[in-house]
Amino acid sequence: MRTKSLEGWKRKPDQLTILAGACGMKVKKQYGVLLLLAVGMVLLTGAPMMRMHLLDSHDVTPQLGNDRGITARLPGTINHDFFHCDRSQFRTDICNLRGDIRMEAHNKSKSFVLYAQDAEERMEKLKPYTRKWEEGSMSTVNEVMLTSQIASPNRRLPKCDVHHKVPGVIFSTGGYTGNLYHEFNDGLIPLFITSQHLRREVVVIISSFHDWWYTKYQDVVGQISKYKLIDLDSDKRVHCFPEIEAGLHIHGELCVNPNRMPNRETIGDFRELLNRAYKPASPREEAQISQKYQDQKLRLTIIVRKKTRKFMNLDKIVQLGEQLRFKVNLLSPGPATELKKIYWLLNNTDVLLGVHGAAMTHFLFMRPGTVLIQVVPLGTDWAANEYYGEPAVKLGLRYLPYKIIPEESSLSDKHNATDPVLVDPDSITQQGWESVKKIYLEGQDVRPSLPRMREVLTQAKSAVKESSKPRADRQ
Ligand SMILES: *[C@@H]1O[C@H](CO)[C@@H](O)[C@H](O)[C@H]1NC(C)=O
Ligand SMILES: *[C@@H]1O[C@H](CO)[C@@H](O)[C@H](O)[C@H]1NC(C)=O
Ligand SMILES: *[C@@H]1O[C@H](CO)[C@@H](O)[C@H](O)[C@H]1NC(C)=O
Repeated sequence: MRTKSLEGWKRKPDQLTILAGACGMKVKKQYGVLLLLAVGMVLLTGAPMMRMHLLDSHDVTPQLGNDRGITARLPGTINHDFFHCDRSQFRTDICNLRGDIRMEAHNKSKSFVLYAQDAEERMEKLKPYTRKWEEGSMSTVNEVMLTSQIASPNRRLPKCDVHHKVPGVIFSTGGYTGNLYHEFNDGLIPLFITSQHLRREVVVIISSFHDWWYTKYQDVVGQISKYKLIDLDSDKRVHCFPEIEAGLHIHGELCVNPNRMPNRETIGDFRELLNRAYKPASPREEAQISQKYQDQKLRLTIIVRKKTRKFMNLDKIVQLGEQLRFKVNLLSPGPATELKKIYWLLNNTDVLLGVHGAAMTHFLFMRPGTVLIQVVPLGTDWAANEYYGEPAVKLGLRYLPYKIIPEESSLSDKHNATDPVLVDPDSITQQGWESVKKIYLEGQDVRPSLPRMREVLTQAKSAVKESSKPRADRQ
């Protein structure tokens, strides 16, 4: 069976990155759906040679150095071998191999990917993780080595133990894996960007594999690939592939830039993938969900942090929510909390409220048209907006930041009113990450004023009611 290719369409350099935010602008979804149908029909009617042209057809002639190698080879050379590395991007390195690939995955950090061709001998190394610029996290990421060899009758290539008919994608779950934000930002979303167009006809190959990670994300990974994944560190077999990509594409913070996707997919399409992943598995589960969330009130879910950046007046905020006729749920995700349960709750939540932190990543589980209220402690404005505020808007949420003022911060109990820590956080954040971490991220709890919070919750309530989404007819 012929398969689609990882590099079957050329990834356009993001012109908008240069001018605007890394993830460009939102596009109308309809366009992507139509294109997708067109591609699907060509595949069904069995015109494989057409396919590449079709997938390529939306590409207009952008020219940045990094795409040149591929441009020169497509679309006419689809059946030819190639070995191409793109090291021009800030966040990620990516190497593509196509041909007779033998992957020996048994040597821990020294993983070999072999590739036979008749042109040249060559070796490339890269770390398949999307934080290329960051020494600390990258130091925990194992290197992948890719080599091409001159084909000759004398040279014995390792024998294939497993033949794969579909491409493989190599990435690492080292780095900051363990932090929810990074698990999505530097793992699942890049994996989606890189391989969703293959419609599950792709093998996921992971270095620094963790069982817990798989337990947590197997539902999601199952929507990306229908094949068993390969643990690069422990698999002793030689795997043969028609194509391999080492490294993942990434567009920005928790986002998908439709201008760089084959069918203009958005972060909304990533959420659709989550929705498929967490579909109730049985009628019993389905009944459970509908019973649990059938109440007619608007639902307010509050993310409760346990150690740092806590709400000091959580009880009062819960009471306030109830006074405003919300059904209030508290969410305090721990390592053992099943993501699908969180998804079900948030898929039925109208307003999500929490203090800035990795758990805000759960906004990805909210339905477009709902509201995210992020409480922004002193000294965290930039990160709060960059990592969660803007990405939430791209998903179609209404974003309401609640900016903590000095009196509402526990720091006002320790510092007097004129201290720069309170009145000029910028001057402290300029001192660097260590100060930010110690003072603002780890040394601060919040006590939002109830009148201000009432105002924001009321605003949230009307925003939900204005939105045309299904739950909006609730009280
Ligand atoms: C495995 O890696 C070591 C170095 O870490 C190297 O000496 C050895 O040759 C490698 N094994 C194979 C089969 O390539
Ligand atoms: C999420 O909510 C939407 C709209 O209410 C519903 O159609 C969908 O099935 C829900 N998803 C899951 C996984 O329950
Ligand atoms: C600020 O607090 C310190 C003690 O932490 C005190 O010694 C100092 O006088 C205070 N300054 C002002 C201007 O109140």
